Amino acid sequence: MDNMEQLVAAAAAEFALAAEPAKLEEAKARYLGKDGSLTALLKGLGKLPPEERKIAGAAINAAKIKVENALTARREELRRAQLEAQLAAEALDVTLPGRGQTRGTLHPVIRSLERIEQLFRSIGFEVADGPEIETDWHNFTALNTPANHPARSMHDTFYLLDESGKVQQDVLLRTHTSPVQVRHMLAHVAKYKHLDVMPEIRVIAPGRVYRVDSDATHSPMFHQVEGLWVGENVSFADLKGVVADFLRRFFESDDLKVRFRPSFFPFTEPSAEIDVAFMSGAMEGRWLEIAGCGMVHPNVLRFGGIDPEKYTGFAFGMGPDRLTMLRYGINDLRLFFDGDLRFLSQFQ
Ligand code: PHE
Repeated sequence: MDNMEQLVAAAAAEFALAAEPAKLEEAKARYLGKDGSLTALLKGLGKLPPEERKIAGAAINAAKIKVENALTARREELRRAQLEAQLAAEALDVTLPGRGQTRGTLHPVIRSLERIEQLFRSIGFEVADGPEIETDWHNFTALNTPANHPARSMHDTFYLLDESGKVQQDVLLRTHTSPVQVRHMLAHVAKYKHLDVMPEIRVIAPGRVYRVDSDATHSPMFHQVEGLWVGENVSFADLKGVVADFLRRFFESDDLKVRFRPSFFPFTEPSAEIDVAFMSGAMEGRWLEIAGCGMVHPNVLRFGGIDPEKYTGFAFGMGPDRLTMLRYGINDLRLFFDGDLRFLSQFQ
């Protein structure tokens, strides 16, 4: 009996000394394992005479239960200690706000494009688009750009390579949205060829364009919005009215001057560049170029299947990236395309 009490006390002391679960399991094996001392005692019972066996068996079993209880208690203690240490180390701050799901935002340039589409739709324009990989014919030839024109040089234009790595002369990344003018005229003429009088073309074509160019105000990929209005008596005065009205509505300001500065484009005649200047604010009095425009060249109308003796039209190509920079007071175009959320998330 004394032996049993000593054994239980020894086991409890060893369990208490075990500072980690692995050590505790080792201590357990010494008592309850296959070769453990309690196991050995139980095995030895068979050699005792029957009357002693009963008493000794009861004592051993009682001791075994006490050892098992001590083991369970120590296991629980160690588990708790480990949990507490972990909680202390992780220093979980339950007062921090949750991560939640943040709401995405539209890119500032996309916001401008949507706004531009909405404003032009309100005066009866449709919205069209065309491929970013264009043929040389649509991007240049049909836009009255002769084969030796500098705009065709390798310097400005990204050409595509064929599978052997050779430059494909006929396929390029469009350098402007103007090829959509031709595509749209051809489609329009085909669509209404059964009518005696062609309905007017009034269309804008927003999209990405590409040029070999990169600095604070130029990116190799940028956006343009092409505009085209073709009808029986469309004049330069219409062009000025549409553009000036659009700009006032886009910037929500009458405090704005618009200037048409004579210029040259192969596909318009006469041609102009459109500048705007604000009459107040940080940019006061500074003229900024935001578009090219002009009356559609007769050759371009012809390439589009339209009789220049019967119809006239104007076209413009504006830079929505520039418009967005002006609207939000952003001075570096590259910010738009870096994908930095610290910048982009400001446009909620
Ligand atoms: N396509 C010209 C450019 O990219 C802009 C333009 C469009 C000019 C339409 C006149 C008419 O610079």
